[in-house]
Amino acid sequence: MKTDALQGIAQLLIQWFDANRRALPWRRDREPYHVWVSEIMLQQTRVEAVMRCYERFMRALPDVQSLAAVEDDVLLKLWEGLGYYSRARNLKKAAQMIVTEYGGVFPQTYEQLRKLPGIGEYTAGAIASICYNEKVPAVDGNVLRILARLTGSRDNVLLPEVKKAYTAELRKLLPDEAGSFNEGLMELGELVCVPNGAPGCARCPLAGFCVACRDDLTAQLPVRVKQTKRRREDKSVFVLRAPDGRIAVEKRPARGLLSGMYQLPNIDGFHDDAALLQALEDRGLQPTQLRFLKDAKHIFTHIDWYMKGYHVSVTRPAGGFLWVTEEELEASCPLPTVFRKILS
Ligand code: ADE
Repeated sequence: MKTDALQGIAQLLIQWFDANRRALPWRRDREPYHVWVSEIMLQQTRVEAVMRCYERFMRALPDVQSLAAVEDDVLLKLWEGLGYYSRARNLKKAAQMIVTEYGGVFPQTYEQLRKLPGIGEYTAGAIASICYNEKVPAVDGNVLRILARLTGSRDNVLLPEVKKAYTAELRKLLPDEAGSFNEGLMELGELVCVPNGAPGCARCPLAGFCVACRDDLTAQLPVRVKQTKRRREDKSVFVLRAPDGRIAVEKRPARGLLSGMYQLPNIDGFHDDAALLQALEDRGLQPTQLRFLKDAKHIFTHIDWYMKGYHVSVTRPAGGFLWVTEEELEASCPLPTVFRKILS
């Protein structure tokens, strides 16, 4: 993603924000306490819900000292309707740090703000720029969406490295009025360049710069691909060898991972030798010797297999396996790489 073509957007955006900014309760002044509490409330919560709770919160806890001293029950009651209660607990912790470590004076730089509990890169950037005009970006989902659309980028904006790259690009576009620029982007993302439904390109001050608007891509951008969580599975894998040298393979189930392929016999989990021998006997085998071979790992798309391989001598080819010579294995059994790691 490159933003060379976007050098002209800052002034247009700031003018638009001056003319169109909503009169929200936390915008009456640039008090860091007010901006901080509202920014925390606005994380994962809609503006309408925050409107209801913000004024009540400020009446009860008008400054950082009262927040630092509040009873937990009172605080959580004030937080009702907002959810994600750890945000409230972190607010109080941070207020206590501001009282004890900063003498009750709100920290004034991005670096100091970043060290407070519950204040991440976005919130530190928002407070530092809105309250102190520090030239730092504040990148949330709104900003990622606007940048992806402006540049026509198909980057997956849910990836941390993409957010990092966008933040670096945005830094180059920051004007001296960094607070208005950042808050203008947020406002544009909430009022015009919206995530759900058609964006209001006809009234967007940046439409002339926007690749997605020009090429009719707003429905496709930004690209947001959730990485499904990886799962770890531990496996004990056996090279079962009959007295004539043949080894056991079996077919995997018709569905699922490596469906229909051959596999070396294996059981879930890691176990001590006695448990391994018992598991083999349960399958009708008579093991005479068990020897650890190696550890191996195989990465599938969404699963990581951690394997311990064992060589097992058995008295006869039993257990309902297919017993094959090494030549037969090479010639006619599609044995996936994951199991070849144990054999080799
Ligand atoms: N969303 C989060 N913070 C905001 C702000 N300061 N203005 C507009 N929308 C926001």
